[in-house]
Amino acid sequence: MAKYIVEQSGPLRGEVVISGAKNAVLPLMAAALLAEDECVIKDVPMLRDVTFMKEILTSLGSEVVELEDNVLSITTKDVISTEAQFELVNKMRASILVMGPLLARKGVARIPHPGGCAIGARPIDLHLKGLEALGAVITYKEDYIEAATGGQGLIGDTIYLDFPSVGATENIMMAAVLAEGITYIENAAEEPEIVDLANFLNKMGAKIKGAGTDTIKIEGVDKLNGAQHTVIPDRIETGTFMLAAAITKGAVHIVNAVPDHVKPIIAKLRECGVRIEVGDDDLIVRADLGPQSSTDIKTLPYPGFPTDIQSPFMAYLTTVEGSSTVIETVFENRFMHVAQLNKMGAAIETAGNKAIIRGDARLRGCQVMATDLRAGAALVLAGLVAEGTTEISEIFHIERGYEKFIEKFTSLGAKIKRIDD
Ligand code: EPZ
Repeated sequence: MAKYIVEQSGPLRGEVVISGAKNAVLPLMAAALLAEDECVIKDVPMLRDVTFMKEILTSLGSEVVELEDNVLSITTKDVISTEAQFELVNKMRASILVMGPLLARKGVARIPHPGGCAIGARPIDLHLKGLEALGAVITYKEDYIEAATGGQGLIGDTIYLDFPSVGATENIMMAAVLAEGITYIENAAEEPEIVDLANFLNKMGAKIKGAGTDTIKIEGVDKLNGAQHTVIPDRIETGTFMLAAAITKGAVHIVNAVPDHVKPIIAKLRECGVRIEVGDDDLIVRADLGPQSSTDIKTLPYPGFPTDIQSPFMAYLTTVEGSSTVIETVFENRFMHVAQLNKMGAAIETAGNKAIIRGDARLRGCQVMATDLRAGAALVLAGLVAEGTTEISEIFHIERGYEKFIEKFTSLGAKIKRIDD
C-alpha cells in the first residue's frame, strides 16, 4: 500500500492554486443524468471520487469523456440501468446522489444499502423521507433499496429536513426539478455546493430559488437540457492550505479561492494571531509574524465552522500556546485522528463529542494511519512540524479528495513524498 513520508519542513512559502470542489463536482455529475444531451463541466478536480462517479454514470448509461484536463463531457441519451452497482456504492457514499436524478428521469432508482464509514453511521433516512414525500414508494429489498413512482411521476410537496443534510438536500432538489408542481425544502442545507448545484440545474432549465438559504423552492418543469458549468473552488482544500501556512508559521498566497466560503476559518485563525489578507479570489495567510495562541471550535452546518476542517484545525491547535476545545456536532464519530495525533506526542483528551487540546506539543514523527480523508490531511500537517519523519499509511483516503496533493505541498517547500510499498 502507498504511504506518505513527511519530514519536518520549516515554514511553507509561495503560492498555491485551489482546484474545483470535490463536494460540488460529485452532485453536478449526478445532475447530468437529468438531461439527454451533453453537459460540460469545467474545473473538475481529477480525484478518485470523480473516477468512481464516472464509473457509476457509465454503468447507468452515460457517456463520460474527458475533453481535456479538468473538463468532463457527460451525455446520457438513455438510462440503461436504474441500479447503482454495489461495488461502486460501497467505495463512495456520494453514489447515493444518483437516486434523485434516476427517480426523476426513469421513475425508479435502486441503490445498495450504503455502508457507514469511519466518521459515522451516515444513514440516508432524510434522503428517503424527501423522495417519499414526492410520491416515491421506498422498498427495502435484501441487497438494495428501491425508490419507485409506479409510473405516475413525482408530485411536488413541502419537505422539512430534521437535519440540514447536504446530500439529502441535493438528492431531493434533483428529484423535484422534474416533479409536477412546486416543492419546498425547509431546513435545507445552505452550503456553497448546494448553490453551485442549483445554479447548474437552473442553467439546464430548472426553476430553483432560495439555494443557500434554509428554504429552497423548486418549480417542476417538463424537461432539462444539457448545459456548461464551472465547478466552484474547493473551500475545504482552501482551509487545508490556510492551516498548512499557520502550523508551519509560513506565508502562503492561496489563489482561485472564494474567501466568502471560508469566513469561519479566517475568523478562527485570526483569533489565533494569524494575519490573513482577503482579496476577491485569493487569500494571503501570514503566520510568520509572531506567536499564535489557542481558540475554541464548534462545528456546525454552513455557514458555521465546517466539520471537514475540524481535524486539520485540531492538528494546528496542538502546536499553539494554551489549551483549546473542539466540539463536533455534525458527525457522531469524527475524532478518529485524535489517537494518531497523540501517538505523535499531542495531548488531546476526548469526552463524547468534545476534545480538549493542550497546546505547545512537541510533535515527534512516527508511523500513523489516515482514518478518513480530512484526518489524513491533519496528519500531514502535523508531520510538517513534527521532529523527524512521519510515515502515513492508508493514504488512499487523502488522494480521493485532494488533487495534486504532493505537488502542491512540495511547491510550498513541504518535504513530503509518496512511496509504494
Ligand atoms: C457532505 O456529506 C460532504 N460530502 C461531507 O464531506 C461533509 O462532511 C458533509 O456533507 C457535512 O458538511 C459530500 O458532499 C460528497 P450530511 P453528506 O448528509 O451529504 C446525518 C469530506 O470529507 N444524516 O450533511 O453525507 C449524517 O449521519 C466529506 O469531503 C442523517 O442522519 O453529509 C451526519 O451525521 C466527509 N440522515 C449529518 O447528518 C441522512 O439521511 C451530516 O450529513 C443524511 C445525513
